[in-house]
Amino acid sequence: MGASKYLDHNFWVFLWPKSYRNELPIILEINLGSNRVYPPKTQNPFEISNFPFDFRLDSILVSKIDEETTKYRLFYYIITIFTLSGDHISTSAEDIEWVKSQIVANGLHMQQNILRKGINPRTRQQQLEDLLQFKGISHYEGQEATNHTALPCPGELLVEEHHSNYGEPWAGGRDVFEFLAESAHLMPNSKVLEIGCGTLRVGLHFIRYLNPEHYHCLERDELSLMAALRYELPSQGLLSKRPQIVRGEDMDFSKFGSNTMYNLIYASAVFLHMPDKLVWVGLERLVGRLKPLEGRIFVSHNIKFCSRLGGEECTKRLNSLGLEYRGKHTHDSLLFNHYEIWFEFRRFKV
Ligand SMILES: C[S@@+](CC[C@H](N)C(=O)[O-])C[C@H]1O[C@@H](n2cnc3c(N)ncnc32)[C@H](O)[C@@H]1O
Repeated sequence: MGASKYLDHNFWVFLWPKSYRNELPIILEINLGSNRVYPPKTQNPFEISNFPFDFRLDSILVSKIDEETTKYRLFYYIITIFTLSGDHISTSAEDIEWVKSQIVANGLHMQQNILRKGINPRTRQQQLEDLLQFKGISHYEGQEATNHTALPCPGELLVEEHHSNYGEPWAGGRDVFEFLAESAHLMPNSKVLEIGCGTLRVGLHFIRYLNPEHYHCLERDELSLMAALRYELPSQGLLSKRPQIVRGEDMDFSKFGSNTMYNLIYASAVFLHMPDKLVWVGLERLVGRLKPLEGRIFVSHNIKFCSRLGGEECTKRLNSLGLEYRGKHTHDSLLFNHYEIWFEFRRFKV
């Protein structure tokens, strides 16, 4: 098995002193993908090449990775390695190889969108017209017409017009989820708040991954909320996940309760559409809801709400809130030539 499968994993490494006499282990967190080792939480990460004890990560992790827990005697320490996240979230190199092999094995090529037997391509508009006229669809008539649908959904949503409401392809939602979930080291019991979740292009993936009630969203657009609640959640079988999706546009998060502490708060393509003042109001209200040190805020596209103040002023303002800017990241899409830009923040004051 290759190393690539584990590039997206985080590992906890426990360094137990060999002369073990009730001493506590040193706990490190390793990410093979970013080539980083995270020493005990409060310090900054350092590169694997600077890792002490001549610890050969690639040989140890990759050769012995099949075992869930692996022990090594190395210099003065016994090292125990645990995988931090059970499931891998990102699409792995093996996944990609597998699907490519399936395409080759089936001799598949992209074809013109032409009429073939049993295949009748049509636009969303044509599909909607057919749906409204019951063309080719078995249906109830008369009084029975209203008796058999538990959750009647508007035709526009059924033909997924809302998948084209924003510029970015719907499929990019998965890219965003994979990047954020792994960057924030999420587990199913983590809590996540999305600001401006739109039609749940990204949110669906979080809702599916997280435990019930652990995904919250504040969104102002009624049509998007209709699409989310009347089409996306029911059609994806995610109603049982009870996401808390609240209508609002003034950064009022009070409806989510006062006790929730989030592992991740993110705004995907949202802050750039908001007045700077409102963004700052939101940050001010949210900082106390972000888990200190481990919790993350991620903002996509740009942070002009900050840079427009001027670099120093911006840092000062963030600091006064107890927030630290941790850097800019880019993340490549799996399916199309695009990378998303993300800005990372954490709460440094406990
Ligand atoms: C470009 S869309 C992005 C939607 C989603 N985050 C995604 O990546 O697919 C921007 C979303 O932000 C929402 N939005 C803009 N200003 C808002 C505000 N003040 N409060 C809540 N949502 C807002 C819009 O209604 C819209 O759904």
